[in-house]
Amino acid sequence: MCGIIGVVQRKGLVAPFLYQALKRLEYRGYDSVGVTTIANGKLYTKKDKGKIEEVHKRLNLDDLPGSIGIGHTRWATHGIPSMYNAHPHFDCSGKIAVVHNGVIDNFLELRRELAGRGHRFNSDTDTEVIPHLIEEYMEEGLNIVEAVRQVTKRIRGTYAIVAMTAQEPEKIVCTRDGNPLVIGQGDGAAYVSSDIPAFLPATNNMILLLDGEIATLTPDGIRIENLSTGEVLTRDPIKISWTADQAQKGGYPHFMLKEIHEQPEAIRNTLRIRQEVLDAAAEIISKSDRLFLTAMGTSGHAALAGRFMFASIAGILPIFEIASDFPDTVGDVLQPSDCVVAITQSGETSDTIFAVKHARERGAKVLALTNVVGSSITRAADRTIITQAGPEIGVAATKTFMVQLTALALLSIALGRRMEARQASFFDAKSEALQRMPDIVSETIVRNEEVARRVAERYHDRGSFLFLGRGISIATALEGALKLKEISYNHAEGYSAGESKHGPIALIEPGFPVVFIAPRDNTRDRLMGNIMEMRARGASIISVIERNDKELASLSDDVFEVPQNVDAEFSTMPFVVPLQLLSYYMATKRGYDPDKPRNLAKSVTVL
Ligand code: AGP
Ligand code: GLU
Repeated sequence: MCGIIGVVQRKGLVAPFLYQALKRLEYRGYDSVGVTTIANGKLYTKKDKGKIEEVHKRLNLDDLPGSIGIGHTRWATHGIPSMYNAHPHFDCSGKIAVVHNGVIDNFLELRRELAGRGHRFNSDTDTEVIPHLIEEYMEEGLNIVEAVRQVTKRIRGTYAIVAMTAQEPEKIVCTRDGNPLVIGQGDGAAYVSSDIPAFLPATNNMILLLDGEIATLTPDGIRIENLSTGEVLTRDPIKISWTADQAQKGGYPHFMLKEIHEQPEAIRNTLRIRQEVLDAAAEIISKSDRLFLTAMGTSGHAALAGRFMFASIAGILPIFEIASDFPDTVGDVLQPSDCVVAITQSGETSDTIFAVKHARERGAKVLALTNVVGSSITRAADRTIITQAGPEIGVAATKTFMVQLTALALLSIALGRRMEARQASFFDAKSEALQRMPDIVSETIVRNEEVARRVAERYHDRGSFLFLGRGISIATALEGALKLKEISYNHAEGYSAGESKHGPIALIEPGFPVVFIAPRDNTRDRLMGNIMEMRARGASIISVIERNDKELASLSDDVFEVPQNVDAEFSTMPFVVPLQLLSYYMATKRGYDPDKPRNLAKSVTVL
């Protein structure tokens, strides 16, 4: 995990802000902490092992000179928590400082190489190769921006990096690949951080930095370039609606909102599931006669979306059965030649474990998909795939749903390749599309937060909602309805839009809110017919559409927009995001705590 902050101000001491920002980032890691500032052409550093508050008591972290600085709160991956391993890390001259979130896979090789050329290392971290590499490039005459650009060509792994040097004391440089960084634009100041709440007390203007981009921050402005081509990119700031005093839970008012915002990172981490694990699972499925999917609640909705993915990508249509009904419905139909994929984020849901036991008793193979290493399901199943959402504390599943979708997408691709269901280029394209999902989901969150708040204001007391979609969007609709009912206590039903005219339409009267999930896939035109039917009866239409789908926007009272050209199989990932935000804002508008909905628990361990 780890939290990063970097600040450039025209005037005023920066250290007190860095210290406060690190406290707001503490939920990301807290085994050690450090800050470095620049003043009078020199770097000043304080760092040590321990929680921020403890270290502050010993060292007075907010007492450093200068108006430009960087800070880090660590969650160790390489090297024990210690003063030496705490970030920032430096080059030999002590003039270049770097903070890093992530892992440099080839650090050993680079370290050996650098040591061979006389570099001295002061830590066991992977991170420390970065300042030494920057040092070499700067000695060749490059400025810090160009040096960092060259370093990104040498390092492999995942990173968010913020660097600065006493030789160019008016700027900090940052870049990322696979780990988050957001930029804040202030008045005579600029900020970069792992997460928005870190700089919220200073600015609500946020600029997205994407993988493969490099930014230079000075008090006069922010310059973003494409890392490989050097092309200067213009990107308007986005207004963030949160207030600064929400500095709990990493600055978020509730875990649910924090977890919604963690989704891009959760997807990214899950995309790194080892190929051997996926191939081993695909092999079991490919050797089975039939594939069953089973799960409860939100995990069941992931299974429904997965059903569509398996069919469309691997050419196999699984049989889905809710876990609590699985033993009764599937019964003895299940054969030893069958395979069951059981999905449960907690790994502790009794219904799901019961279904798994039923399957194992009948000799079927069981694969489990869970977010919790060592949970009960991992012992009950033949094989397990672990998703990488990190701990989810809010009772309403959000980021664990996202990573289940990610893992099911990966598994569908692995299975399709193994079964040679299509040409290799098809699977390559699907893999690439999946790699873009973290950025797509990230953009969807940013664009829809304010819209969700407004739509929630308008509809929060309507009492009853319909969520409609077709194809894979039925899963999205069901999930949107579940989120809304479980935390806002509004009645909501998710339905196939095709089915809506076979009953639910009787509910419609003027002002009845109907939420349509409307990607530009091959269901769109028929879905438009359903929108017309609902409009004709006076329903209020809230649509989740692709950007610039002007036709559907013109038929809707309110719209949420997601980025264009999302592959149909993966559309649930961005399209569910506005629905999560909508239910969150409806719950809070109605005065309920979304993290602890009544009568529910995070893991349901009774049958
Ligand atoms: C999700 O928001 C719900 N709290 C609930 O439906 C949940 O998804 C269900 O209980 C299954 O949990 P699991 O994924 O831990 O098995
Ligand atoms: N790999 C680095 C370390 O161990 C960074 C870890 C982090 O992201 O905090 O120090």
